[in-house]
Amino acid sequence: MPPSPEPAPGPAPTALASPEPADLTWEAADSLAQRHGDAFYIFDPAAARERVAHFRAAFRPGDLLLYPYKTNPYPDVLDTLHALGVGAETCSAPELRTATGLGITGELLHSTGCGRTPQELQEAADAGATVIIDHPSDVPPLAGRDVRVGLRCDFPLGDRRASRFGVPLDDVADAAALIRATPGLRFAGLHCHFPGTEAAFDSRARGLLAATRIAFPDSPPDFLCVGGGFHGGVPAPVPGTSPSDYAALLLPALTDAFGTETPTLVLEPGAALVAAAFTFVTRVRVVKPQPNRPSAVVAGSLFDISPNTRRTDLPVHTITRSRGAARGEVDITGATPMPDEYLALGVPGPLEPGDFVCFHRVGAYSWAMAPEWLRDRAPVLTRRPIDDIV
Ligand SMILES: Cc1ncc(COP(=O)(O)O)c(C=O)c1O
Repeated sequence: MPPSPEPAPGPAPTALASPEPADLTWEAADSLAQRHGDAFYIFDPAAARERVAHFRAAFRPGDLLLYPYKTNPYPDVLDTLHALGVGAETCSAPELRTATGLGITGELLHSTGCGRTPQELQEAADAGATVIIDHPSDVPPLAGRDVRVGLRCDFPLGDRRASRFGVPLDDVADAAALIRATPGLRFAGLHCHFPGTEAAFDSRARGLLAATRIAFPDSPPDFLCVGGGFHGGVPAPVPGTSPSDYAALLLPALTDAFGTETPTLVLEPGAALVAAAFTFVTRVRVVKPQPNRPSAVVAGSLFDISPNTRRTDLPVHTITRSRGAARGEVDITGATPMPDEYLALGVPGPLEPGDFVCFHRVGAYSWAMAPEWLRDRAPVLTRRPIDDIV
């Protein structure tokens, strides 16, 4: 789909956008389903823009947001975020090529990943990306190229074991020396990323500062990157996880360590930018009596909303053709032959064939990872403007 004209972002809103399309009537959903099929996503660019505005308002003007393409590389998502000046974090050659095709490079493009081939590392360098070194073996293939590099560091966080990515603190001095001794490489900063929202950001800051003292003993690096893992509001927003809560953990640590000349802080929020911007809408095909409560079989699959975690706790609402009184509860099951494919449990009924079920906050690692097993991938429809879904 072609990108929509992007209105300038307004002042930072204070509340999380509600992407729930409460305005989607049965007639509108039916009309979309007739054109696009009985299972589709709705992307709301306004919700993604709002999340960017929240981050921008909470952090400093020079700090950078890089969007991890792996979270959801739907073209309208990338266009929406890049139009706001958000850069890209890519971990594969196809992602890198998408980003460079969209004009993203330099400090706005991080090439991360482990086990990249020499050709992949060189392609990233030649694209002008900032290449994040995951292991010392990433360095020799870059020799002789003019390339900005960062070093991914690994350190235990609280009782969490070290990860399988990056260079442990004990090896940072050697890795830094190797980078500095390699012709062409400009050693610009340090990177870390720890999956999961429980990986506390104050501990990340402490770890990065410890690595900074080792790798940049004389003058501060250009950037420190804390990776992603900011809470995406799934299944619901959690107190203490707003961008300003994260800024309150990170920025004072930087100021304490560096004074006013602090490195650029780089953030790689994935789920936090796009989870709330996607809703999955699917039609009820048949309603079956079951021993506990009826189950409504929908056209979509658990793979569409939770390919990885198999969660059944996403916010759900139903769009029914006949607006009778609420009655009973219904389980929502998928159309694949997987026996345990429950998308939601105990949804307020009744539901009838032809009705719709909407699953909210499914923008992260859902469409991107949904397999094409047994069916075509569900299409994404973009709201532009807010009441016009195409
Ligand atoms: C290097 C890196 N940065 C950022 C992210 C985004 O994480 P999240 O979606 O939890 O913010 C990932 C996800 O795997 C990642 O590998």
